[in-house]
Amino acid sequence: RKKVRIHHLREMKERGETWPMLTAYDMYTAELFDEAGIPVLLVGDSAANNVFGYDTSLPVTVDELLPLVRGVTRSVNRALVVADLPFGSYQLSPEQALATSVRFMKEGRAHAVKLEGGRRFAPHVEAITSAGVPVMGHIGFTPQSEHNLGGYRVQGRGDAAEQLLADATALQDAGAFAVVMEMVPAEAAKRITAELRIPTVGIGAGPDCDAQVLVWQDMAGLRRGKAPRFVKRYADLADVLSQAARSFAEDVRGGQFPAPEHTFH
Ligand code: KIV
Ligand code: NA
Repeated sequence: RKKVRIHHLREMKERGETWPMLTAYDMYTAELFDEAGIPVLLVGDSAANNVFGYDTSLPVTVDELLPLVRGVTRSVNRALVVADLPFGSYQLSPEQALATSVRFMKEGRAHAVKLEGGRRFAPHVEAITSAGVPVMGHIGFTPQSEHNLGGYRVQGRGDAAEQLLADATALQDAGAFAVVMEMVPAEAAKRITAELRIPTVGIGAGPDCDAQVLVWQDMAGLRRGKAPRFVKRYADLADVLSQAARSFAEDVRGGQFPAPEHTFH
């Protein structure tokens, strides 16, 4: 099984093969998802909400994400691992964007990086790709701009669809190898997917994108509570783990664990 490269993703688009992407933040999930044939794993800044316990993605830092990236890249044989640049680590200048990307490549051993933003970030994307680092863009609802976007809402409705296409095209022209579209109307996503040569990765962007991504804890039902409309739950891990913890607690309290087979003499 060969390593996934960015040209493979482009070839899948040309063949009309839709591909899956998941987040991963540690060794076991990286191994399992890689073996399951997920070609691209994202160490998202969503680790903020799904690993570190923050309520938004804004507080998470490069120093917090780097060890997660390292753990994931050490654990895959085949998947392309994308490291998400956190808020504040690339917006200041193309130079800052490149410097942060270099850290994720050298220290995290990532295979690519991802950043949020459209046209205004084309110079940042260009600086990073010029240094030989593949960049994935991210437009539509971009969680790092939550406060400027007026909260968690669909982007690119009506006339704004043209702006979204201009953003996607600018990222492609700047050298991005793919672009995530989050919470945009299916019609706009379909049109942008048809216009771009590079693959689009949808999350809440309808069925016509070249790829689909979900946060793994949402996909596997580890996160409790009401999930966004675009999430499909493929398992109920919260229930499985909670039951396991309760059974263990009950066994310990009742003296059923450890049993003779768990005991040395
Ligand atoms: O951080 C993240 O998980 C993401 C994906 C939802 C695309 O950016
Ligand atoms: Na992200």
